[in-house]
Amino acid sequence: MSQGEAHAEPTAGRPPRIALFGLGGVGRAFLEIAGERPGTLRLVAAADSRGALIGDLDPGDVLERKAAGHLAGNGGVDAGGLIAEVEPDIVVDTVSCDFASGEPSLSILRAALDSGRAAVTANKAPLARAWRALAGDADRARRIGYAAAAGAALPAVAVARALRREDDVASLEAVLTGTTTFVLEAIAGGASVEDASRGAQAAGIAEPDPSIDLGGWDTAAKVVILANTLWPDGLELDSVDVSGIEAIDAGEVRTGTVRLVGRAERTAGGVCARVGVLRLEDDHPLARLRGSEKGVVFRGPGIGEVVVTGGRSHPRGAAGAAFGDVLELAGGLA
Ligand SMILES: NC(=O)c1ccc[n+]([C@@H]2O[C@H](COP(=O)([O-])OP(=O)(O)OC[C@H]3O[C@@H](n4cnc5c(N)ncnc54)[C@H](OP(=O)(O)O)[C@@H]3O)[C@@H](O)[C@H]2O)c1
Repeated sequence: MSQGEAHAEPTAGRPPRIALFGLGGVGRAFLEIAGERPGTLRLVAAADSRGALIGDLDPGDVLERKAAGHLAGNGGVDAGGLIAEVEPDIVVDTVSCDFASGEPSLSILRAALDSGRAAVTANKAPLARAWRALAGDADRARRIGYAAAAGAALPAVAVARALRREDDVASLEAVLTGTTTFVLEAIAGGASVEDASRGAQAAGIAEPDPSIDLGGWDTAAKVVILANTLWPDGLELDSVDVSGIEAIDAGEVRTGTVRLVGRAERTAGGVCARVGVLRLEDDHPLARLRGSEKGVVFRGPGIGEVVVTGGRSHPRGAAGAAFGDVLELAGGLA
C-alpha cells in the first residue's frame, strides 16, 4: 500500500484496526474499555517506551503482559516502521510527552497522518505546538481526534465543534487545569503556596513538571486547541499571553473566588488569547467549580452563553474520550 492509500480502504462492516502507543494510565484504561466492548475495534499493535506487541491482540492479554513489566524490545519503538508494518486504520497516541517539543507524540501523529491514516491523541502539547501540521487543513482535521487532549471527560472539544457549526462564537473563557483550582482552594483554606503545590503533587493530579500547570501553560495549550477548533486563524501557543499562580499572593486568593482562567476572543485582527488569575463574581458560571473540576463558557451573538462544566479527572475519563474519537473516526472512514 502506498502512502495516502490507507484511507481509501473502507472500515464499513468491520471493526477499525487500531495501533495503540502508550500503556500508562490512559492507554491501559483504553484497553479496559475495549475489553468491555468486544467487537468494536481490532487491536493490531500495542507499544510502550521499550517495545511493542503486534498481531491480532486481545486487550486483556496486553494488560496482563504490561502488568508484568515493560514490553520486550530493543530499547524503543520506531513509530513509522510499526505503523507501516501493521497498517492500522487508526493510530491511538497515549504516550507521555515533552511539553516543549511535543515528542514523541508529535512524531507518532505525523507518521499516522502522513501515511493517510486517522489518529487519536490524548496529548495537548503536539496540537498546541504544531496545529497547522496536524489539523490545519480540512483533510487532516477530518482525520484527527483530540477530545482527550483538552478536558478529557469534559466534552469541551465536542461542544466547540457543535457550536462552530451552528454559530459565530465570539469568545471563550475557561478553567481547564484542575491542579490550579486545587492549589488555589488550598491557599484560600489557609495553606501556603508551597504546601498547596506539594498537596497537588501528593494527590497525583499535577503534571510531572508542576510549572506546566502552575505556570499557566497547561491552560494555555488547551485554550489554543479550543480556539483552533472554533476559528480558522491558527492561534499559536507563543502568541498567548500567559501568567500563572506560582508567585501568587496568598492574601489576594483569600479575598474571593480566585481562579486561573484562560480566555480567547476573535477580533477583526485575529484571535487574542491570555491566561491569568481572575477574581470571579459569585454568579460567574466558573465560580462554582470545585477541586479538579473544569469548565468552559462559550459566548456569541446567536448562542448567548453556553457553559460546559464537570468531568471526572481520571485516566478513565481521558481514555473514554479517546475511545469515543475512535468510534467517530471509524464511522467517518466507513
Ligand atoms: N492521566 C490523565 O488523566 C490524562 C488526561 C488527559 C490527558 N493525559 C495525557 O495523556 C498522556 C498519557 O497519560 P498517562 O497518565 O497514561 O501517562 P503515563 O502513565 O506516564 O504513561 C505514558 C505511557 O507512554 C509510554 N511511552 C513513552 N514514550 C513512548 C514511546 N516513544 N512509544 C511508545 N510508548 C511510549 C510509556 O511507556 P512505559 O510504560 O514503557 O514507561 C507509558 O506506557 C500524557 O501525556 C498526559 O498528559 C492524561
